[in-house]
Amino acid sequence: MKELRGRMTKEGIRIYEDADFAGMHKAGRVAAEILDAMAPLVFPGTTTEEIDRVITQMVDDMGAISATIGYRGYQHASCISVNHVVCHGIPSRKILQQGDILNIDVTVIVDGWFGDTSRMYVAGPPARKAERLIQVTHDALMRGIEMARPGNTFGDIGHAIQSYVEAERMSVVRDFCGHGLGRVFHAPPNVLHYGRPGSGPVLEEGMFFTIEPMVNLGRPETKVLADDWTAVTRDKSLSAQFEHSIGVTASEPEIFTLSPKGAFYPSWH
Ligand code: MF3
Ligand code: CO
Ligand code: CO
Repeated sequence: MKELRGRMTKEGIRIYEDADFAGMHKAGRVAAEILDAMAPLVFPGTTTEEIDRVITQMVDDMGAISATIGYRGYQHASCISVNHVVCHGIPSRKILQQGDILNIDVTVIVDGWFGDTSRMYVAGPPARKAERLIQVTHDALMRGIEMARPGNTFGDIGHAIQSYVEAERMSVVRDFCGHGLGRVFHAPPNVLHYGRPGSGPVLEEGMFFTIEPMVNLGRPETKVLADDWTAVTRDKSLSAQFEHSIGVTASEPEIFTLSPKGAFYPSWH
């Protein structure tokens, strides 16, 4: 099947070679290690700017490059999205409060390969509703990843996520999606976190992409603030997100951004 690799599908989705998985693993691991180091830095009284400062330093110390600094004018090594911020929160001097929930999203480049991952953190024990939101968002991502097998479609992934989230009476954000990645940050396809079974492109071995569902406690609508980045829920309800970078194989999907510490899901007990 050698001649079928390194090609593009008719939808413009790149099919990577077996050897490319190693590059993605290395990049994914660096991003995951950085997120592993963040848990002790998240507490009431600190700022998201301080967290981002440590991330910037770690990216450099690990010999990686931040994919976000300079990306479309963005100036930080992370996006940190607190409470009703859906995604693309800009690190700031705003002080974290007891019970705040936040997503930290880091993308690094290692040897030209992109590793993109995000997870949730809590500043002290969250409210029961916030805890449920975090659990449902995490499990929705994992259900989506489970569908990432050759012969399934991107619609199968979206449907697995949407049907689970909506059965829990929460909503899936439509305005942002996952994406192909590899030697580029954002490539085809758009990985929707909702959809109909059997719709969309068919998955093939050698596809690399992110799945990164954003789930709201209230309605799915978002708006972008005047800073042109920060996306918030229109109804001010809480929002959560988890993101992995994965590769499709003949069998189990490979998660490039697994937490070396097994700390992807937040702990507060
Ligand atoms: N890491 C984000 C993603 O999951 C993209 C952030 S772009 C930035 O695709 F410029 F806002 F950092
Ligand atoms: Co992403
Ligand atoms: Co990301």
